[in-house]
Amino acid sequence: MSEKKIIAVLGATGAQGGSLAHSILNDPKSEFKVRAITRNPTSDKAKALAKAGAEVVGADLDDLDSLKKAFKGAYGVYGVTNYWELFSPEKEINQAKNIAKAAKEAGVEHVIWSSFEDTRDRIPLDDDRMPTLMGYYKVPHFDSKGEANKIFANLGVPTTYMFTSFYWDNFIYFGMGPKRGEDGILAFTLPMGDKRLSGIAAEDIGKCAYGIFKKGKELIGKTIGIAGEHLTGSEMAEAFTKALGQKVKYNAVPPAVYRSFGFPGADDLGNMFQYKHDFNDDYCGFRNIERTRSLNPDLKTFEQWLTANKDRIPLE
Ligand SMILES: NC(=O)c1ccc[n+]([C@@H]2O[C@H](COP(=O)([O-])OP(=O)(O)OC[C@H]3O[C@@H](n4cnc5c(N)ncnc54)[C@H](OP(=O)(O)O)[C@@H]3O)[C@@H](O)[C@H]2O)c1
Repeated sequence: MSEKKIIAVLGATGAQGGSLAHSILNDPKSEFKVRAITRNPTSDKAKALAKAGAEVVGADLDDLDSLKKAFKGAYGVYGVTNYWELFSPEKEINQAKNIAKAAKEAGVEHVIWSSFEDTRDRIPLDDDRMPTLMGYYKVPHFDSKGEANKIFANLGVPTTYMFTSFYWDNFIYFGMGPKRGEDGILAFTLPMGDKRLSGIAAEDIGKCAYGIFKKGKELIGKTIGIAGEHLTGSEMAEAFTKALGQKVKYNAVPPAVYRSFGFPGADDLGNMFQYKHDFNDDYCGFRNIERTRSLNPDLKTFEQWLTANKDRIPLE
């Protein structure tokens, strides 16, 4: 049997990279093997990956040399950065640049870069429909990833640009789940009006990436949008009501109100939802569900995700 090809997985201890790593590890017939990259190879999650059969390698996205070493001999790299640890577009762009440079130098044959649109292509900085943030951005955590797309292209790194969607897991971990109002009724709040929100189970992102790697070089140079479903707030409320067995309402607020909520990143997310609202047909249209399902036949609907996760949603 020929030697399995190494996929170096960034973020292997996290949601996206973790789901790719486990997709490969759970497939005994895979042509790939996993090199899980982490800053802390002795963490519980890193140890669990090693136990499941991954090679665990220590490296840091801020340290170019460590990435060059970690990518040595790898066929593929899954590239993901964690904006919410940085809260700095410049730092995120620099980490992406390190991924691209290290992949180029190591001669990696296929990188999947987990990314988004640069929203400034549609809303230039002088467009006052939404505030400019941090001096140069409309949606900082999108624009930095979008700006980094050009770095991979300009360096000639063989890259598939995978544009992801809102994780439904945000209803568990990001404080976005339904909360009980003064009327005693559960409600979740989003500034999406009557428009559709592209969503996905976080675990499906890595499964889609596996589907892209399995296609060989076919999708190199291509930008692929992925989503599990595009649903309105009312449709999500209906699904919540059915899954939780009690009424859940959708509380639509204007983006400016969402920006003013004051939690870290509220302005960034307020602009993000406004972008998804204002360019709804293009945004959802780019994230074709049937194509996503062709990459990942296990792709979950919101209802399926809720059935599996309803007991993990904190209801305050
Ligand atoms: N929430 C959403 O709805 C959503 C939707 C689409 C895309 N995203 C994007 O997803 C990204 C986060 O991905 P995730 O959800 O998979 O993250 P996550 O579950 O929070 O895990 C973060 C991962 O990044 C790794 N990491 C962070 N800084 C690192 C560094 N300096 N060097 C090496 N590894 C580092 C961590 O590894 P160690 O700690 O083990 O080193 C960990 O595996 C964000 O940029 C966000 O914009 C989020």
